[in-house]
Amino acid sequence: MAGNSFGQAFRITTAGESHGVGNVVIIDGVPPGIPLSVEDLMVDLNRRRPGQSKIVSSRDEPDEPEIISGVFEGRTTGTSIAIFIRNTDSRSQDYGTIKDLYRPGHADYTYDAKYGFRDHRGGGRSSARETAVRVVAGVVAKKILAKAFGGRVVGYVVQIDDIRANISDPAEVTPEAVEELADGEPNIVRCPDAKAAAAMKERIEQVRAEGDSLGGVAEIVATGVPPGLGEPVFDKLKADLAKGLFSLPAVLGVEYGSGFASATMRGSENNDAFVSGDAGKEIRTASNRHGGMLGGISSGMPIVLRAAVKPTSSIPRDQDTVDRHGNAATISTPGRHDPCLLPRFIPMAEAMVAIVLADHWLRNRQQQML
Ligand SMILES: Cc1cc2nc3c(=O)[nH]c(=O)nc-3n(C[C@H](O)[C@H](O)[C@H](O)COP(=O)(O)O)c2cc1C
Repeated sequence: MAGNSFGQAFRITTAGESHGVGNVVIIDGVPPGIPLSVEDLMVDLNRRRPGQSKIVSSRDEPDEPEIISGVFEGRTTGTSIAIFIRNTDSRSQDYGTIKDLYRPGHADYTYDAKYGFRDHRGGGRSSARETAVRVVAGVVAKKILAKAFGGRVVGYVVQIDDIRANISDPAEVTPEAVEELADGEPNIVRCPDAKAAAAMKERIEQVRAEGDSLGGVAEIVATGVPPGLGEPVFDKLKADLAKGLFSLPAVLGVEYGSGFASATMRGSENNDAFVSGDAGKEIRTASNRHGGMLGGISSGMPIVLRAAVKPTSSIPRDQDTVDRHGNAATISTPGRHDPCLLPRFIPMAEAMVAIVLADHWLRNRQQQML
């Protein structure tokens, strides 16, 4: 009913708000014996955290997770894992002036309409702060995928505003190319096409200076996924991946493979021919317009999906709105907001994809022929 849990065999439950004490995740279904430390969790948390570069929110939180249960002597025990992350840099006073106003494009009005009142500080539970604990659950899920079938999930930015990256093969993009430029400098936009990344960075800085924000598209690729993950019919892999991605804040579209472009293709253009793999035994497809899933079940080809992320709604310029009594008002949201959500969205999207795949791998394991 309350919608705070996700997944079946690998199940996460989160609680927490942007400006409360902190956020917690309980992860059920993790097999025993997987090495897990705070340092492991920090890798992706540092990619998600605000304050990591000059083009993201300046909220400065170290995001130090505390493993409360489910890990003994550095390995998962098989019992439920609880991980807590304290909020340490919330400036609730920043939100005092918009307490009774509805930010256009944000969740203020709908939370009030649903609950009758809301925690207005930093967006409460609608804030992307909640995703910090999903990212740690994603680290655990990624470990399961790596151990179970050598699986890997890599996300990166393919579009910001009208600037598009040129990616020849999504399955070949490495985490290093996403995080680092050729000269060793951090790739703060997380776009592996260096030329596009430079143009994107410049556009973000320009639009931020204009007091506005920008949207874009993230691409997430899962490689090594064996055929057979996904259930008929409501729990199709593509349905659960879409739910996982749409559960993240600011996502307005999800597509797989040829996606919306398939609307203008002929069947003969969109079909992927089946061929024998390198060993002459396993079956693969010559192209991957199906995005790695057929009938909602993984085909063994890389899973390729894209999420459209809207421009940040909180912007430091006057916008028309109303207060909670319906009186016309003007609102401006200076605060510490990301001018473009894409660079920090990447680890969140990878986490949700890894969580769904770990869930379906564990579920599929129960259905093997005896
Ligand atoms: C990485 C990330 C950071 C975000 N930071 C902000 C922010 O600083 N200010 C803001 O207004 N919205 C931010 N959002 C988006 C809001 O959380 C989101 O738009 C809001 O909850 C309304 O939900 P909806 O856009 O899914 O309808 C962020 C989203 C993501 C993915």
